[in-house]
Amino acid sequence: PFVVTENCIKCKYTDCVEVCPVDCFHEGPNFLVIDPDECIDCTLCEPECPINAIYAEDDVPAGQEGFVALNAELSKEWPVITTRKEPLPGAEDWDGKPGKLPLLER
Ligand code: SF4
Ligand code: F3S
Repeated sequence: PFVVTENCIKCKYTDCVEVCPVDCFHEGPNFLVIDPDECIDCTLCEPECPINAIYAEDDVPAGQEGFVALNAELSKEWPVITTRKEPLPGAEDWDGKPGKLPLLER
């Protein structure tokens, strides 16, 4: 499956959700995740993210391997999102900032 990684935190552009043919994005307060049991590896979402937060599971950047389990866990708790919405305030400033994981809200 594909995986949403750290750079999405505090940005949440949501461009990714509209292209998913199986509606497997789930929304939390400041992050999205993909349900690995629903993702069909169509690859459509990956280029939609303006800040490159989505990777195939095998290509998740070094140090972010924990996001594989985090997507699996949180997708069972958070509701599905299928419609694009405004990014979070300050999203442009948070793009590329390191160490965002502690800021993830559940
Ligand atoms: Fe959805 Fe396709 Fe992205 Fe998987 S790869 S989350 S099925 S858009
Ligand atoms: Fe996050 Fe990128 Fe989607 S910032 S909400 S993975 S478009």
